[in-house]
Amino acid sequence: MATPITPAFPATRLRRLRRTASLRAMVTEVNLTPANLIWPVFVTEVEGAEGEIASMPGVERLTLDGVRRAAERAARLNIPAICIFPHSDQALRTEACERAWDPENIGNRAIRAVKETVPELAVMTDIALDPYNANGHDGLVVDGEILNDETVEALVKMALAQAEAGADILGPSDMMDGRIAALRGALEDAGHKDVAILSYAAKFASAFYGPFRDAVGASGRLVGDKKTYQVNPANRAEALRCVARDLSEGADMVMVKPGMPYLDICREVKDRFDAPTFAYQVSGEYAMLEGAIRNGWLSRDVMLESLLSFRRAGCDGVLSYFAPAVAEILA
Ligand code: PBG
Repeated sequence: MATPITPAFPATRLRRLRRTASLRAMVTEVNLTPANLIWPVFVTEVEGAEGEIASMPGVERLTLDGVRRAAERAARLNIPAICIFPHSDQALRTEACERAWDPENIGNRAIRAVKETVPELAVMTDIALDPYNANGHDGLVVDGEILNDETVEALVKMALAQAEAGADILGPSDMMDGRIAALRGALEDAGHKDVAILSYAAKFASAFYGPFRDAVGASGRLVGDKKTYQVNPANRAEALRCVARDLSEGADMVMVKPGMPYLDICREVKDRFDAPTFAYQVSGEYAMLEGAIRNGWLSRDVMLESLLSFRRAGCDGVLSYFAPAVAEILA
């Protein structure tokens, strides 16, 4: 798009249109509404684990009843979707990860709880083995190697169980190759043709996920790192190839993750593919901002400003732990 030519000062005084709130409103280019938000919530099956997460002040692990209340709150605030992250019993995490596709695992119970309480609220899930894996990885690990194709088979089972429980949107966050095609095919075959896939397409191997790993109880368990499957933060072209690949395999929507340090990728994904594009303002971004807000170093306005930046970068929506607080301000 061409930059419009403006005549020289004083014919052009860009401050003219900033003078009053009305004038500023008239020339506002992007907006943020609750419809742009997806609210990630943590649900625990472990007695005593509910409550605030130390590295994410203001964010709690919820019980199933807490998830029901969160669903009602989301609906009240016009947030269209909630995304469920399970905190499972550590003692039941195994190397084979079989609880990931157990219809009675805590994630699937939470999906059903939300759909029973607020049927119209969209429920999104996370597809990756880490919440149920003894070693904290998103895939099956054998002799120190994260297996790709065997993991995809496990993810398909996990996805079918989530679809069966009533999930509207599946969010594969595992970064295995070939998973989108495998999931799409299995969903179609099982009669879940309308279950959507929001692929974590450009997911970087980031240090900003630290607080999330505390929240789901994966910190200290992760053996090694996730660099053999998540994208190198230095790689823009590779991230775009991931998005192209996932769209070609049948992803309905794509995500860039983390968010704020990767706004360049968001813009480029939107411009190139013009598909529904989301970003994840991840736990570390939340912790930085909320920590500074709580210390009085930043005003709460940074919540709105940070989310608006995603809209400006071309995102249709954002997964953010600020979702309910921001929706309350916007109401
Ligand atoms: C794991 C998963 C992660 C997040 C969402 N799904 C962590 C990871 O990849 O280690 C991070 C979300 C956040 O930091 O808020 N499948």
